[in-house]
Amino acid sequence: MSDNPFADGIAYVDGEAVPVAEARLPLLDWGFLHSDATYDVAHVWQGRFFRLDDHIERFFAGMDALRLSIPYQRGELADLLCELVGRSGLRDAYVEMICTRGLPAPGSRDPRTCENRFYAFAVPFIWIADAEQQRRGLHLVISAQQRIPPGSVDPRVKNYHWLDMVQALFEAYERGGETAATVDGADNVVEGPGFNLFAVTAGRVATPARGVLEGITRRTVMELAEVQGHAVEARVLPAAEVRAADEVFVTSTAGGVMPVTRVDGERVGDGAPGPVTTALRDAYWALHADPAWTRAVDYR
Ligand SMILES: Cc1ncc(COP(=O)(O)O)c(C=O)c1O
Repeated sequence: MSDNPFADGIAYVDGEAVPVAEARLPLLDWGFLHSDATYDVAHVWQGRFFRLDDHIERFFAGMDALRLSIPYQRGELADLLCELVGRSGLRDAYVEMICTRGLPAPGSRDPRTCENRFYAFAVPFIWIADAEQQRRGLHLVISAQQRIPPGSVDPRVKNYHWLDMVQALFEAYERGGETAATVDGADNVVEGPGFNLFAVTAGRVATPARGVLEGITRRTVMELAEVQGHAVEARVLPAAEVRAADEVFVTSTAGGVMPVTRVDGERVGDGAPGPVTTALRDAYWALHADPAWTRAVDYR
């Protein structure tokens, strides 16, 4: 048993570190009442942050797009997150940074009167697919659920508009699946709850260009796939193409590269994780020991 009070997770609220189970936010924060917030999730693997600067860059771009701000520069935020994880002692961690609109002046509905708030937390690493699902591949359902259109909420700004995702998950469970992909209204696949999606056909690697969060794992995989000699295409990805693909996989900070071996109950390829997916997954995890891609956490 650890005597570190933060061993199960640590949160940073109102400038103070608290055990994550004790973290509270004000009920009237528009981040909660209106999903008026942006956030980012980075991870620590074997004591090292992966692509932390890229996550922070995306977080700042999201805040700019929503007219939100925090009282830290990029470098200060990186140091703060490293310190947070260091205090928790967590070697493998899921690390979330959040900026909310905050509370308006009493009686006001004017967002300009809000004081933006910053929260962060680190908890033990979270996997979208468990060990068994990663070994044999996930069973994915292409849901009828349309992802909120990019003209309403820009999916490139990481957001908490997840009602569509959660309904898609319920649909997937009812149809015998384990996770779900949402569509764009024209029967093209976009993204799922916390992940981007890829289809591999005849060695070509394709992922939706539009209507998705531009995932850091997605970007890493696109870079690795090129290095491994594949044509990589960000474009429209019809649901029919995903159903007929040789290989399908999903990507997320919460688990990296995860194979999909059934789509809508039918086998993908021969029903086992394919060679392109496996090579990309291995290359992705190999980067986690590389100082060029990672930053060591100081656990003293
Ligand atoms: C909606 C959505 N799409 C895609 C992703 C994958 O992005 P990343 O690889 O940066 O974790 C996430 C991550 O949580 C997400 O929430």
